[in-house]
Amino acid sequence: MSAKKQAREIIQTPKGTHDILPSDAPIWNYTMQAAQDVARFYGFGRIETPHFEKTDLFLRTLGETTDIIEKQMYSFRSRGGDPLTLRPEGTAGVARAYIQHGMHTLPQPVKLYYAGSFFRHENPQRGRYREFRQFGLEILGEDDVVTDALIIQMAHVILTDLGFQNIAVQLNSIGDEESRAVYRRELVTFFKRRFNALCKDCKRRLKDNPLRLLDCKEPGCVEIREEAPQIIKSLSESSKRRFKTLLEYLDESNIPYFINPHLVRGLDYYSDTVFEIFVNCEDGSHIDESEETTENPVFPPSPRPAPIAVAGGGRYDSLIKLIGGKQTPAVGCSLGFDRIIAALKAQNIQVPQNPQPRLFLIQLGPAAKKKSFQLMEEFRKAGISMGESVGKDSIKSQLKIAGIVGAPYALILGQREALDGTVIIREMGTGMQETVLLKNVVEAVKMRLKQGKRGF
Ligand code: HAM
Repeated sequence: MSAKKQAREIIQTPKGTHDILPSDAPIWNYTMQAAQDVARFYGFGRIETPHFEKTDLFLRTLGETTDIIEKQMYSFRSRGGDPLTLRPEGTAGVARAYIQHGMHTLPQPVKLYYAGSFFRHENPQRGRYREFRQFGLEILGEDDVVTDALIIQMAHVILTDLGFQNIAVQLNSIGDEESRAVYRRELVTFFKRRFNALCKDCKRRLKDNPLRLLDCKEPGCVEIREEAPQIIKSLSESSKRRFKTLLEYLDESNIPYFINPHLVRGLDYYSDTVFEIFVNCEDGSHIDESEETTENPVFPPSPRPAPIAVAGGGRYDSLIKLIGGKQTPAVGCSLGFDRIIAALKAQNIQVPQNPQPRLFLIQLGPAAKKKSFQLMEEFRKAGISMGESVGKDSIKSQLKIAGIVGAPYALILGQREALDGTVIIREMGTGMQETVLLKNVVEAVKMRLKQGKRGF
């Protein structure tokens, strides 16, 4: 590689990652705030788990034949030789923390939320990153299907609060162990008859984990899948009851949903409820307009490329036991912030911007520059936001910046004022100025801001 090319490369983020710039901070803060407000209202406590965990944690929980385990993990060895992996998702880490910190001894259920970066070696494309941010909600230690409905409702409320209107919840039940054993046999029979048309991965996965074939993104396999038997028909009595009750709860809370009988999700730890949520769907779903729809229709086969989900989750009753804990029912979901923010931008949803400083400090000369520090602190403590450009020396350039920042008032601290213990308050709109004692300036500014006083 030439030196020039190398220099160009070094200033690019690694493939599949992106910077979040200050100009995007308002939209990220707004999204985080909306999610956190809902989580806190429902009594969820924040948990933070490490960005990397022991590789075995993910190998045991996510499923050997999933894309994540087969292709997407960033695994490495520590200098001491321990196999570690950058977390590709958050649920396994939360389950580990639940056991490690004896959370089963707390009043159940334990409700936790988290936010942070996750890492998957995906093929970068629209909405698919190698480092992405999720906001997760987990309810551990509760079997009642009402918690499944609560999690879906919370994700729905977060998206509604953010300003999305066309939100589609796709829902399925993949049943309990008993249901899946029956279904697996049916799937194997179905796919074996179409074996030659399957992709290489699916041919291999058919033997170990036929459910994974329903999650394949290869167009040929997607087409075959449309004809595949549906798990809903193989559900055990208890799984059927759970699913029916879940739908009743969702009806009650007026959350529109679509049953997608082929939704299995890309992780193996789920049982019974699974769901994904989409936004920006013209008609609230992804159903072809030509298709007939009822109020809560079964998701019909669609030849279109699958839209990308902004949230996904489900029930994972076996996960905690799988890594050495007691049998603990649990349900959760994660929202993909990068995708949500891209969708907010695409829909031009307006978010609150950072407030402009209400005051701008202009300092002239070394004595004034020194006094600036204390002055800025006084205004910070008084809760009055202040802009500054203490690195600049000329009044012209500082006034120019003050104009750009848009603060209604400026403080001018010149060499003479610094010696006299005074400061000039300038009203930016009119250019009118008044000199006040430095020790009274916070009160004087407060009064003007309070009265919206213009002029002197
Ligand atoms: P997931 O469906 O793999 O589930 O991810 C949840 C959400 O994270 C997705 O709907 C998507 O919005 C976002 N996401 C996933 N991968 C990427 C990517 N490569 N680039 C950008 N965004 C992405 C889980 O991770 C489960 N842990 C969810 C869960 C919580 N289940 C139970 N509790």
